[in-house]
Parts: sequence; structure tokens; C-alpha cells
Amino acid sequence: MVDKKWFTDARFGMFIHFGLYSVAAKGEWYASIQKVSPEKYNEYFETFSPAHYDPAFYAHMAKQAGMKYAVLTAKHHEGFCLFDSAYTDYKSVNTPAGRDLVREFVDAFRAEGLGVGLYYSLVDWHHPDYPAFHDPFHPLRGSNAAQSEQCHFDRYLDYMHAQVKELCTNYGKIDLLWFDFSYEGHSGADWRAQELVDMVKSLQPDILINSRLEASGGSLGSLLTDSPSPWAGDFAVPEQIIPPFSLKTPSGHPVCWEACQTFNNSFGYTADDHAYKDAQTCIRQLTDCVSKNGNYLLNISPDGNGSIAPEIVKSLREIGRWMQYNGESIYGCKESPLPVSSFGCRVTARDNILYLHVLQQPVGPLPLAGIRPQDIRYARILSNGAEAEVLTKGWAAENYPDYTFISLASQSNETQPLPDPADTVVKIVLH
Ligand code: GLC
Repeated sequence: MVDKKWFTDARFGMFIHFGLYSVAAKGEWYASIQKVSPEKYNEYFETFSPAHYDPAFYAHMAKQAGMKYAVLTAKHHEGFCLFDSAYTDYKSVNTPAGRDLVREFVDAFRAEGLGVGLYYSLVDWHHPDYPAFHDPFHPLRGSNAAQSEQCHFDRYLDYMHAQVKELCTNYGKIDLLWFDFSYEGHSGADWRAQELVDMVKSLQPDILINSRLEASGGSLGSLLTDSPSPWAGDFAVPEQIIPPFSLKTPSGHPVCWEACQTFNNSFGYTADDHAYKDAQTCIRQLTDCVSKNGNYLLNISPDGNGSIAPEIVKSLREIGRWMQYNGESIYGCKESPLPVSSFGCRVTARDNILYLHVLQQPVGPLPLAGIRPQDIRYARILSNGAEAEVLTKGWAAENYPDYTFISLASQSNETQPLPDPADTVVKIVLH
């Protein structure tokens, strides 16, 4: 069994979607959605020159935001490789950029002491042996150009396996491999998944692999069952959703998971999508994930030049400020063993400590269900160390004997603005 501790301790990572689609600036599915011709797409390849692609800056941002690892799209569905593969000409080193963008990424993130992950698309809209005509997503689906295609899927699989081998051989230790994605007729054994997983694990014995050798954005795969397939992966990856509860198999065995989320509405850069999440939203999503035993993989989308939107930079800075004082309630934390709850709160836990994340201004002292005053040794506001008094008697407490009241103000019958409106953490140390 591979050790997942670094991953479940880390809790917070950066996803980076970058490719030719970043130049088109309409999201990474643009070629499929608009059925873009190979000729048109080739313009992006011929002119690809992201002068501001700066992994050292991305890594610096990730580090200061409190992220512990990152995952870069080494190849997305478009088939363009950000690494110097010996098996294709369709790669960043052959564009005006002339750079191996994966190598730069790996070096920069390692230099910041962060974990390194690579996303690799199983789907490929450029390789001639990937079926196009009948495929539901391929840009050439149903087209005259693809009607008489002669594809040998096994040849594509040889190519795909060889590229994954390159990624697992040429870039030092890779912590995580993020495959994407499976669908009908393209799942599990169709990818020669057993052979692929064996090869990856033989080259990188400690690597963690996600669930999409048989799952997709909307499905979690057999990891959620009591008899996962041999290629079910090490963690499930719900996309654009945070599960409403911690994930378990039917027999109650916890399932490791990571929710991947966009910063605005798309993974690939979209010039007119300005719906960026503010820091408060991201902090609360992170907290929500951890309270359910999950990780949070937050995506950034460098634009066609490699620059990051100022809104993203700003939010990451603010997240970092919060993490500086509250990271203790995130790293190495998990779902609370006690069913503690209060309106507008989340709970994360580690050892004999509960971290109560207060997301909404309470009126007077905060009522907690699922815990008794005598269970609590002491409680403090995490960011400033101030005592949060546990009330055993008085005004509020006596009328509601099944609840434990915690005061977040110096006078227990007062309401003071929460020190951190995004998420005020109360550290509750149990006996
Ligand atoms: C999806 C999409 C893709 C995105 C990914 C991230 O499966 O196809 O564009 O990269 O999920 O989770």
C-alpha cells in the first residue's frame, strides 16, 4: 500500500492548466466545443511564445498561499505536449517558445519544497490513431475529414504509455500523476490500465495516481466500492463540486479524495470570464473539503503569455495571510470524530483538538451541539490566541442544557465582530 500521508497532510494544492488553448483564450474545451479545424489550431502552435510563463513565480505564489503541491497539464486533450517527448513533434520545444515547460515547472516547484504532480490527458485530439469520427468529443467528430480515418488505437496506446514512461523517467521524482479522463469505450482495460499502472509504479514506487483511468469529472470510479479495480487509483477527484459528506465505501472505509476547482469558471484561460473567486470563498471551500477528509486543488490559468490574472494573485495573497495564522487547522487535519455542529460552522480535527471554523457572525455566544462543556479542556481563537470562554452557566447556557456555549467576545453577553470574517477558527482542546 502506497503511503498517502504527505498528500492527506498537505490538503491544499495548485492546479495549473496551460497549453495552446491558453492562446485561444476560450477555455481548454474550445477545440471540441467549436469543432476547430486542425489548420486553425495549428496557428496557435506556430506562434506559441509565452514570454511570461514563469513557474518560479507560480511556485512562489503557491508557497505563500500555503499550498503544498501543484499539478501541471503536461498534455491536455488537445494533444500538445509541454514536455520534450521523443514521440511527437507536437511539443513546446518545437514552437517559438523552444522550452520544455514541464522541466521548468518541476525544477521551480521542487526548489520551493513543494510536491510535484503531472496531469496527462488520456484523451488526445491530435494523435492520428485516436478515433475521431465516432468520438463524442473529438473536434473532427462527424466530419468529412475523419470519415475514412484508419486509426489503430493500439498504436495510440503505445504512444500514450511511452509518453507516461518519459514523464516518469526524465523528470526525477514525481509525487502525483493525474490522468484525465475515461468514458464509454475508453476506460480501464481499454487504456491497458493494468500495464500502465504497473509501469508507473515500477518507475515511481511512491507516486499517487488519481482515479480517472476509469472515472471522469462526474464519476468517482470503483474506489467508492468495497472492491476497487486494480486501476481505481489512490484518490478520487470530484470536479467542480465539494461532496456533501466525507466519502466512504459501503462498508464505511474512508476514501481519499481531492476536489479540483476553477478560480473562475474554466480551467483553461478564458479572456472574458471574470468571475474569479475571492479569498473568502476559497478559504471556505478549503475548510469544507478538510472537514470531510478531502484535499482542495485550486486551479490557476496562465493566459497565452503565461501571465496570471491580478484577481488570482490578490486572492492567493489573502489566502496566504489567513493560512499563516490558521494553517494549523488545515494541515494534517481531517473530519471531526465527534458530531460537533453549529449553524454556519465547519469542524476540522487533529489528535485531541477540534478546530471550529466560524463562518457567520453569531448572536452572542455560539451554541455547539455534539459536545459537552466537560469534554473541553480549553478553547482559544487560533489567530490571536484569545481565550474563547466555554460557558457552563449563565444567561444563555441554562435554558439549553444540551448545548455547549462558547463566547467569542470578552463579555459573554456581547456580540463583537469576528476577528476574521472569512473564517474565524476556534481551537478547542479536548481532555
Ligand atoms: C475534465 C476536463 C478538463 C479538466 C479536468 C480537470 O475532465 O475535461 O478540461 O482539465 O477535468 O479536472
